[in-house]
Amino acid sequence: MPENEDRYPAESGRRRFVKGVVGASALGATGISTALATNLTTTSSGAGGGAIQYYGIENTDGPAPRGLPQIPVEIDDEGNLKGIWPEVKTETVNNEEVQIAEMQLGGTTYSSEWFQYCGVQTYPGVRPDTDQSNFFRSASSSSYDWQSDIETGAQLTVSDFDDYETWGNDIGESGIGKPAQATWRSQDLPPQETIPIQVLRSTRIEEMAKSASDPAVREWLQASTDQGFIAWLNKCTHFCCVPGFKETAEFGAANSVYCPCHQSVYDPFSIVQRQFTSLPRPEDTGSSESSSGGGE
Ligand code: FES
Repeated sequence: MPENEDRYPAESGRRRFVKGVVGASALGATGISTALATNLTTTSSGAGGGAIQYYGIENTDGPAPRGLPQIPVEIDDEGNLKGIWPEVKTETVNNEEVQIAEMQLGGTTYSSEWFQYCGVQTYPGVRPDTDQSNFFRSASSSSYDWQSDIETGAQLTVSDFDDYETWGNDIGESGIGKPAQATWRSQDLPPQETIPIQVLRSTRIEEMAKSASDPAVREWLQASTDQGFIAWLNKCTHFCCVPGFKETAEFGAANSVYCPCHQSVYDPFSIVQRQFTSLPRPEDTGSSESSSGGGE
């Protein structure tokens, strides 16, 4: 579990607050475990899957059924950006040992099941026990000019986003945030098994983490964003295309995330909790090869 360092120091007492929430969540752990066990036992062809609540960026237009799930962000001592991977536990279900990646974070249950749709449930990086790096790495293809200066696969750092308060790309307003196309938990894997993500640093995220009107969202953002950085799984919930922030001036999406396949729009400045039915992971095979858990 990442250290609960003060990510937004102006919000006094955050550290105490988050710890208190973890403690409170532990009280409800029995119910959560029971629900998860039920999912596992009723899934004949794989692990996990079922009704899942998650936080994500809101779908505001187009045919997509729901928002894109957030990947909680942390920043290490060298300024490298990382995604938080839930703690990996082994539970025995029907006399079988099953790996589960799940933790209490920011007042909610954060689980690898948040990402189990659009085929991502079959990717090695989504397996709880895959020994993959959690660093955010620059994607091989990005429509943002600034990323052409960064080697594909290089770790993204805070300093890459130093101009986030002024950055613009001639689409929509400048100064509302600096984005990157990136990958997560997919190093050395082929494209079809690479998890695409989008990273954004914005003063709006900083403000929301300090003063979002919904206390539950505020608590979640304080735990899942850091220094204005937010990240999400970049697979459209409609038919799984890869959207982008500030990619088009059309469709009212100039300052939003837009999916070019069927014009769905997502708002990274509106964080909502939603529910969906996540798909089970395929049968566990060969998991003993990599058992060190959440990676770096
Ligand atoms: S809107 Fe259809 S795949 Fe994104």
